[in-house]
Amino acid sequence: MTAVRVAIMLQDPLATERFGVWLGQHLVPGDVVGLIGELGAGKTTLVRGIAVGLGSTDPDAVSSPTYLLVVEHPGRTPLLHADAYLPKKLEGFIEDGGLDYLLDPRAVLVVEWGQRIAKHLPARTLWIEFTMPPGGGRRLELRLACPSHFPWLLELPKMA
Ligand SMILES: Nc1ncnc2c1ncn2[C@@H]1O[C@H](COP(=O)(O)OP(=O)(O)OP(=O)(O)O)[C@@H](O)[C@H]1O
Ligand SMILES: [Mg+2]
Repeated sequence: MTAVRVAIMLQDPLATERFGVWLGQHLVPGDVVGLIGELGAGKTTLVRGIAVGLGSTDPDAVSSPTYLLVVEHPGRTPLLHADAYLPKKLEGFIEDGGLDYLLDPRAVLVVEWGQRIAKHLPARTLWIEFTMPPGGGRRLELRLACPSHFPWLLELPKMA
């Protein structure tokens, strides 16, 4: 199957969070999501929603884990929230055997600044790129190298 790109426009932070909830309700253990977007793009807002959708017990605790590298949020499906803003730190962790921890088949892994460690992430990774249109809101482009892995994503909800 060929790669697929789909885009969604989210007008405000609540729409970003709600889209994250919808993602979290569909993601399954073993899924990997890479987030691409500049400072303040809305990545962590989306992850907070994903945590809600995954049934995390502490979604309000989701924040940018820049200096913590990876934070685990327990719940119905555990969320591993990583941050590659400082890629050397996460690379070092990965080289020391951390990839087995990150790619836990019982958890969903979401990596902010994921493109900075792209070579370590599986081909099936769902990539989401945030841009900030001049008119406001956020545009998210979702890239699926393996669309058959995320069939539910081809039916994006109306959240504009
Ligand atoms: N769709 C949206 N429209 C407008 N503002 C948004 C939208 N989604 C999120 N925001 C706002 O963007 C700001 C930055 O959000 P957030 O902290 O999630 O970004 P980030 O990409 O994680 O930033 P950083 O790289 O600094 O960690 C917040 O004030 C958030 O409310
Ligand atoms: Mg962040």
